[in-house]
Amino acid sequence: LNKADVARQLLTGCATSPAKTRGEAFAPSNIALCKYWGKRDDDLNLPMTSSVSISLGDLGTRTALSMAEGADTVTLNGEVLARDSTFALGVSRFLDLVRPHRAAGFRVETVNSIPTAAGLASSASGFAALALALDDLFGWRLDPKRLSILARLGSGSAARSVLKGFVEWRAGDSPDGMDSFAEALPERWPDFRIGLLTVSSRPKAVGSREAMRRTRETSALYHVWPAIVERDLALIKEAVSARDFDRLGRTAESNALNMHATSLGAWPPVLFWLPESVALMHRIWALREDGPAVYFTMDAGPNIKLLFLAAETAVVKSLFPEVHIIAPFG
Ligand code: DP6
Repeated sequence: LNKADVARQLLTGCATSPAKTRGEAFAPSNIALCKYWGKRDDDLNLPMTSSVSISLGDLGTRTALSMAEGADTVTLNGEVLARDSTFALGVSRFLDLVRPHRAAGFRVETVNSIPTAAGLASSASGFAALALALDDLFGWRLDPKRLSILARLGSGSAARSVLKGFVEWRAGDSPDGMDSFAEALPERWPDFRIGLLTVSSRPKAVGSREAMRRTRETSALYHVWPAIVERDLALIKEAVSARDFDRLGRTAESNALNMHATSLGAWPPVLFWLPESVALMHRIWALREDGPAVYFTMDAGPNIKLLFLAAETAVVKSLFPEVHIIAPFG
């Protein structure tokens, strides 16, 4: 079973010609509190474990789509991309899954509201917005489950970006991945804040796809990862429903550090941290000694994402003047 087979199965009975001239959608970016790290199927982006994320409110991707004969054209933040650029190729490969016939081309206009320097992954919101815009263009009205599966075929973390707020992506166990999709948790937490601290916005040496593959295949530490996730997932869901911020922050921070530890055990080793990342960790730990409940998480890069509640905003701003603060619940 490959991506094309799954897409065909997913879209059985769906229209193959557009319902309107232009489809459009927005999807938020998301940050995992319990990470997706390692796949059981590289082609279908099926994860080894479940994960939980928080979406980033109005930070994300807006995508508009229309059809035209000929090759795809992809515009990113107003700039037409070269056809052989990584981004345009990724988009075209994803569109191949739904292309009605060989000569059918798409015009894709994508705008990211994620601060470009933040070094945040745009693949999650990018593929989610693309899946939602296709649904709009073709008038499919897919349910959230099928939208999540479609987005997942573009990028694993995109499965979570079709939804808002706290989102759980259940790993599932079927080989075709029809049970591997995300669902929103019912809780809202209006005081929840995320602070982006950009250490470097340069493209990373090893991408998340390669890093997780190498880790799963070569790191002895990876064997304990599924058990860590099982524990952390339960703790995070409990913390969210009990509004226990300390438990949530502690668990999310520890989960991220454990993920990075598994990669350090890979060969060749993968270390995403820069000296500035480590310096920031020490500053956050020192701050916590003084009381404020400020935690952090990190993804496959050197940047730090602070987790805190609205009451700590002034402290966070004074200690980290460069921070970009996000209120996920508006
Ligand atoms: C560290 O979703 O970018 O951000 O499925 O290969 O596209 P692919 O990987 P991707 O990996 C995200 C990894 C992570 C953790 C997370 O978002 O859960």
